[in-house]
Amino acid sequence: MSIVLYAVVLAVSAIVFFFPRRASQLNLPYVKFDGNNSASRYRTESERLLRKGYAEYISKGLPFSMRDPNDANRPMVVLPIKYLEEIKWIPESRISFWKHIDKQSILTQIGGPGLNEECALAARQGLNRALVYLIEPLQEACTAAYAKEWPTCSEWTSLLPYALIIKVFASMSACVIVGPELGGLESEWQSLSMNFVAAALSAPSKVKTKYPRWIYWLSHYTNDGVKAMTRYRIRASELLAPVLQNRIDATAELKSRGIRKRKGPRKYEDGVQWLLDAHTTHGKDLTPDQLARDLFVIMTASIHSTSGAGLAVLFDMLDHPDALSDIRREIQEVKTRLPGGVWTRKALGELQVLDSFMRESALQRIPVSSPWKFKDGLEIPAGTTMVFPGYHHNFDPIVHPDPDTFDAKRHLRKRQESNTHKFHFASVSDDMLNWGSGRHSCPGRFFAQETLKLMIIHLLEHYEFKHAEETKEVPRFLPNNLFIIPNPALPVLFRERKVSS
Ligand code: HEM
Repeated sequence: MSIVLYAVVLAVSAIVFFFPRRASQLNLPYVKFDGNNSASRYRTESERLLRKGYAEYISKGLPFSMRDPNDANRPMVVLPIKYLEEIKWIPESRISFWKHIDKQSILTQIGGPGLNEECALAARQGLNRALVYLIEPLQEACTAAYAKEWPTCSEWTSLLPYALIIKVFASMSACVIVGPELGGLESEWQSLSMNFVAAALSAPSKVKTKYPRWIYWLSHYTNDGVKAMTRYRIRASELLAPVLQNRIDATAELKSRGIRKRKGPRKYEDGVQWLLDAHTTHGKDLTPDQLARDLFVIMTASIHSTSGAGLAVLFDMLDHPDALSDIRREIQEVKTRLPGGVWTRKALGELQVLDSFMRESALQRIPVSSPWKFKDGLEIPAGTTMVFPGYHHNFDPIVHPDPDTFDAKRHLRKRQESNTHKFHFASVSDDMLNWGSGRHSCPGRFFAQETLKLMIIHLLEHYEFKHAEETKEVPRFLPNNLFIIPNPALPVLFRERKVSS
């Protein structure tokens, strides 16, 4: 298997205020570094401890504890997969995923947005139902974004692909997130939302290093990044107000005419409409400010995770060029059957070799927090973060035979041999925790799958790429907190393909 990523979505590093509680309170083995056990080492190298604990305990079906890199007050618990079944459908009120995310990101504590039922519902129902109608506009947005964002490179040119992938994905998702009124390539929304996401990912760590937890709220008045987030949100709600009012009026008008459901796409299929629907379903009014918060939090959850996945696939393609001819041939074969070369969801689903390659390139974790007692008596104190080590699970030879060998067709064979409906890139399954599991499993995964495929198809059709001689030794993937992320600072050489085939 390839080394894989979870791009830092809302996770940021924490500052230490207290010594950890003694691990013995948890009555679990406590894994720590030999020698230096400083907070900074936990922020950068925790993944190594997960690996050590996996070998010593998880592989034998036993849990262990270690210092939580984001909370020095309480050790976190790392659990073997056998415990997953018991908690994956537990209500948010008992084991909170959103509180865990918020504990790490501190966004709501500094006046920012947080995940909620409506965001999850809008993605789970609205986005997923409409996705079949969105492929064509997404393909158009993809072509336009490459033309605008990807620099001309008729000769081999060194580029930093991560920043470019982010821009292409952000353009594609803007056309889905805010729809036709605001989502254009040069729109104010585009820069506003990108600026918000950048501030939301950088400001919290600065606040954490500067303030003790109980006065985080002060940063609202004193920290430039936090103040900018508020400014962007206020401006976004001004832009969204007339769009939202228009949708509220149109929905009321349809209701007054007794039209509830119709076949095919509705006039508007975008984040504004799905969030309005989700709030209405829950009997809530949606204000422009809440709409701006919800859209921003969805963007924060999607942009870096999806772009990071795209970068990991690119790095794996660079390291396994032998797999590319099969993938290119498959794209070509399916495309010749498409009228006007316009992709559909069905046709993207036929790209099984590409899909298998992408799945080989992915990782995940499932964090939750709360008091809990498992059936076998294992007790987890309130507020403790529980982690299932998805990355190491992906490399467990019991789960995936010969895990260190990148096998582009591993998941394709599984589909063919056991179940054609499982083991897709976006499948949630116990053999890979990329998308989480159960109640909170990522509702944006099908969108991520289709946008990534469109982006990869465009890349493969229009560019050649290779590592430069001088970057051959630069690591492709880096440890970061509990994760391994693709190196965003690694440049790659690109050249436009003379004949697109
Ligand atoms: C490769 C890209 C992505 C990865 C790896 C990823 C991964 C995840 C993971 C691991 C979770 C938590 C699942 C759990 O704890 O069980 C999650 C939740 C979520 N993701 Fe994604 N995600 C990606 C893309 C997206 C996109 C494109 C969107 C939106 C369009 C999105 C929206 C969300 C939302 C709203 C949640 C919270 C769901 C809930 O709490 O019920 N994600 N994602």
